[in-house]
Amino acid sequence: MVGHARVKKAVFPVAGLGTRFLPATKAVPKEMMTVVDKPVIQYVVDEAIEAGVEHFVFVTGRGKGVIEDYFDIQYELEATLKARNKKAELSLLESILPKAGTASFTRQQEPLGLGHAVWCARDIVGQEPFALLLPDMIMKSEKGCLKGMMELYEVAGGNVIAVEECAPELAHRYGIVATGEAVGEGFRITDMVEKPAPGTQPSNFFINGRYILQPEIFEILETQERGAGNEIQLTDGMLKLVKQQSFTGYHYRGATYDTGAKDGFIMANIAFALSRDDIRPLVEADLKALVAALK
Ligand code: G1P
Repeated sequence: MVGHARVKKAVFPVAGLGTRFLPATKAVPKEMMTVVDKPVIQYVVDEAIEAGVEHFVFVTGRGKGVIEDYFDIQYELEATLKARNKKAELSLLESILPKAGTASFTRQQEPLGLGHAVWCARDIVGQEPFALLLPDMIMKSEKGCLKGMMELYEVAGGNVIAVEECAPELAHRYGIVATGEAVGEGFRITDMVEKPAPGTQPSNFFINGRYILQPEIFEILETQERGAGNEIQLTDGMLKLVKQQSFTGYHYRGATYDTGAKDGFIMANIAFALSRDDIRPLVEADLKALVAALK
């Protein structure tokens, strides 16, 4: 049996303005804000690496050049570290450097929506399936969300979307899917809607920002009309593809933090700090004291 075409590339839309994090994002892209000591984008790239991704496609925008610099060599810094014999720091920098030629950057010139940002990656992705990871959402689980999706993709092929359950009153913030029969560990997606009006959602399964998509989505996005929020929506494009190709839902059960929101960003910092052997002993007692002092 011929397997499904391997997913080698991942797209990271990083053009967003980050208005929810002003004034910080006036000068620092939201993807470069740190959770403990790593920029948010690093968590998402690590998730893709764990899942076997080999090429990283960043859809950037004006003012995001620092993301490109982050994934490059920093000669002055490295020379200084070498001169000071800082071996651990040097190997840390080495470990995050993508292999030459495996990171590509393209610009979304106007903020026309997620669907448009994804479409901007079409020439670099070409005619192959690709992963899409929204960097606002960082995940914490034993097995990464994308890795679990890749395993489901090996069985189901087609398109795979990760979903989680939300409280019904929060469904209007997300893309929501309608669930059909079981497919392997997942389920068939029969319908989807971007930011449904309160009370109209077909389920409480929301799209959590991780996708495996077939390249036919690009042709659809090319002519996609504006949808919710007057933006070119990826969900609307996928809904058109549902009629031609299979979409399978992967029910992700780990923790997810929306670092684009203040509460999610703070909770991500606390959760990742507490999960680290080097940091937990430094903050645990103080955190407990702070919580105990809450009235
Ligand atoms: C985007 C997607 C939405 C998804 C969400 C997850 O929305 O359009 O379907 O549920 O990401 O974070 P945005 O957060 O850009 O409004």
